[in-house]
Amino acid sequence: MPPTSTPVAGNAEVRRLQAGDVEEAARLHRASFPGFFLSSPGERFLREFYRGFLSDETAVTAVARDTSGRLQGVAVGTTQPSGFFSRLLRRRFLGFAPASALAVVRRPSELARLVRGVAYRGGGVGEGALLSSICVAPGDRGAGTGARLMVAWTSEAVRLGATAAHLTTDAVDNDLVRGFYARQGWRATEEFVSAEGRPMIVYAIALGGVARSQSADTSR
Ligand SMILES: CC(C)(COP(=O)(O)OP(=O)(O)OC[C@H]1O[C@@H](n2cnc3c(N)ncnc32)[C@H](O)[C@@H]1OP(=O)(O)O)[C@@H](O)C(=O)NCCC(=O)NCCS
Repeated sequence: MPPTSTPVAGNAEVRRLQAGDVEEAARLHRASFPGFFLSSPGERFLREFYRGFLSDETAVTAVARDTSGRLQGVAVGTTQPSGFFSRLLRRRFLGFAPASALAVVRRPSELARLVRGVAYRGGGVGEGALLSSICVAPGDRGAGTGARLMVAWTSEAVRLGATAAHLTTDAVDNDLVRGFYARQGWRATEEFVSAEGRPMIVYAIALGGVARSQSADTSR
């Protein structure tokens, strides 16, 4: 989708996710992934998802704000996908349950889909840290914010001990996003079909060199 307004590449502040970012991050996520997993129950559910990254020591996060303080983008993940998502579901159960109740009552099959969405581990096929989600506000795309978020996210993953990272994205009708990852140095490793029947592709990156060459550019 083309940008909806002319983006301004300002001196965006890029730093880790904080409690004050959660509400805007949930709104931005929903606007970025309309109709996708996690967006369907609404922003309340997404707020619980983002809150789960605030206190976990394996969480890897980055947010970008423009010079006026508006949230432009957010990236979240973890250095240990296997433990993180079970902790997230346990810790935030009291928040997730009411936030998803309406969607589940309307369509009970939604429950399994949501649990899979929250516990998403890159299809279980990648190595190292997992980039669970990265999104930039529709009107800000194409101005380098996604690249800055990626630099901050990978630098933070290295700081937390990761030597590699992976992510999954749609394999088809997704050329812009796939091109973005490729230009950031990620390489496609394998394809699989999700439980919902979506063809997905795994991207991976070795992080040692990324941290050394990019950390000097990172401001947070
Ligand atoms: C993918 C995404 C995070 C990139 O953020 P961004 O701020 O536009 O990225 P940058 O400005 O650093 O890089 C732009 C590049 O990404 C690509 N791109 C991907 N989606 C784009 C979009 N909707 N608008 C403009 N460029 C986009 C372009 O090819 C562009 O390449 P170029 O620099 O050669 O012109 C952003 O497009 C987005 O949030 N998309 C929707 C959510 C999504 O699909 N996330 C990934 C899910 S796995």
